[in-house]
Amino acid sequence: MSGKLASEYASWKKLQSIYDAEHSKLILKDLFAADPERFNKFSREYVSPDDPSVTFLLDFSKNLVTEPILGTLLDLVREAQLETYRDKMFAGEHINTSEDRAVLHVALRNFNDFSISEAGVNEVSGVLAHMKEFSEAVRSGSWKGYTGKTINTVVNIGIGGSDLGPVMVTEALKPYSKRDLTTHFVSNIDGTHLAETLRLCDPETTLFIIASKTFTTQETITNATSARDWFLSTAKDKAHVAKHFVALSTNTKAVTEFGISESNMFQFWDWVGGRYSLWSAIGLSIALSIGYDNFEQLLKGAHGMDKHFKTAPLEKNLPVLLAVLGIWYNDFYGAQTHALLPYDQYLHKFADYFQQGDMESNGKFVTKGGERVNYQTGPIIWGAAGTNGQHSFYQLVHQGTKLIPADFIAPATTHNPIGHSKHHRILLSNFFAQPEALAFGKTEEEVRKELGPNASEPLIKSKVFEGNRPSNSIIFPLLTPSTLGALIALYEHKIFTQGVIWGINSFDQMGVELGKVLAKAILAQLEKPEDVKGHDSSTTGLIHYYQKYRKE
Ligand code: F6P
Repeated sequence: MSGKLASEYASWKKLQSIYDAEHSKLILKDLFAADPERFNKFSREYVSPDDPSVTFLLDFSKNLVTEPILGTLLDLVREAQLETYRDKMFAGEHINTSEDRAVLHVALRNFNDFSISEAGVNEVSGVLAHMKEFSEAVRSGSWKGYTGKTINTVVNIGIGGSDLGPVMVTEALKPYSKRDLTTHFVSNIDGTHLAETLRLCDPETTLFIIASKTFTTQETITNATSARDWFLSTAKDKAHVAKHFVALSTNTKAVTEFGISESNMFQFWDWVGGRYSLWSAIGLSIALSIGYDNFEQLLKGAHGMDKHFKTAPLEKNLPVLLAVLGIWYNDFYGAQTHALLPYDQYLHKFADYFQQGDMESNGKFVTKGGERVNYQTGPIIWGAAGTNGQHSFYQLVHQGTKLIPADFIAPATTHNPIGHSKHHRILLSNFFAQPEALAFGKTEEEVRKELGPNASEPLIKSKVFEGNRPSNSIIFPLLTPSTLGALIALYEHKIFTQGVIWGINSFDQMGVELGKVLAKAILAQLEKPEDVKGHDSSTTGLIHYYQKYRKE
């Protein structure tokens, strides 16, 4: 990110000419046949610098790259000065230039290794201590509701980064959860989300966590207000709110105005981006579910990856490797999307989480310097837990007309070894088979042989798998809090690296504003048809239709 467009870098131009000259010759089958060492050359084992039990293998050998291509991709990283920008991030420089903010989620999981001097960083341990004390009080039952009953239900009300991280992690780490403490998440402004959740709650035993960095987000404040009304319709006395509502926010004034006392507020800071906030007070629902010590393990796992990202040479740096492979497909092969495919039911929200993490970070068409890019930036992120996806969208991934790079992610050991791990072996056989099928396919010749001489030509053609479809595989021993922390940080730093190469600001989210402003104006016009003004004929027509049919 040297002020240049990425496409002006010499290494970018070189990559373009390599792509033009060589891409039709980059055939995975041939690359593997030509080099028995390919797996060894194109895979890396991560071992946390802090804890050798936090480890995983990244196999990226099934990618359409050679050593010279990888070398040129890493030249691009150097030309974009990733190392300089990475060090600026870790030092607390205001790399979120449009909002003039530091980007310091790494400070939330820093166990005294990095020295960072931004205001608020020295308060992190105090907030963690508060989270520990509070989560232990609720989990042990010493924190009582207004009638003296123990809390058995937690409802986190938040949206975007104040929802998706806690949802994803509490799902992922369910084996570590306190099973008699139920956690719900309400995010959507659609009243159905809150109403259906409240049906499952008892006001005497429910704790509401209002999670909002700004404490102005329309969805969250509306849901929180309705939840408080629901609570008070039974509890009656406003003084009881203190036992049942806590806030996670940077905005003390708005929190106290809402009626939550400062002592029930868990603070964080403007240098924590919403989509990078699960490590902050926003993780309170996680700490309540899995216990503070496990939450700390999650932070420590991420911290190990931070150290790796900060110190490992580029050719061994896993976030960097994932980033450049993504750029190769996104910017040279023209791939539009990237699939995240965890073969672990506990990770069923992983792709949803990184949809925001990646798309809100890198969905930008303007560089930090204000220039329109002339290349593709962030990919569309999507995915589902295996093997469900195989019975849904994998048809297109295997035989469709689009190139869809994918990451396959799986644990070697399951938390649920039912049938002597029979399920898990079947699951993993699919985890190994799918990347193999994608990469090597099935030739027409093989199909002909299999179907015999009487098979029709259309049938033969329909059974051919062209192959040569790239993927990464990540396999780790067991999904533990620290391993999950490392995996999340891996993708966070991948996103950062890509943003630096593209020259964009990965840490603002201006693109969510326009729709919000228009919705506010429209909300004021919904009552009467004569109020509907200032819109195009389509929007006006839609609102008029609604006004004709709405019931109340
Ligand atoms: O979607 C926009 C956004 O600002 C996200 O970046 C953020 O995670 C979310 O809204 C929620 O914001 P808040 O935590 O301030 O309620």
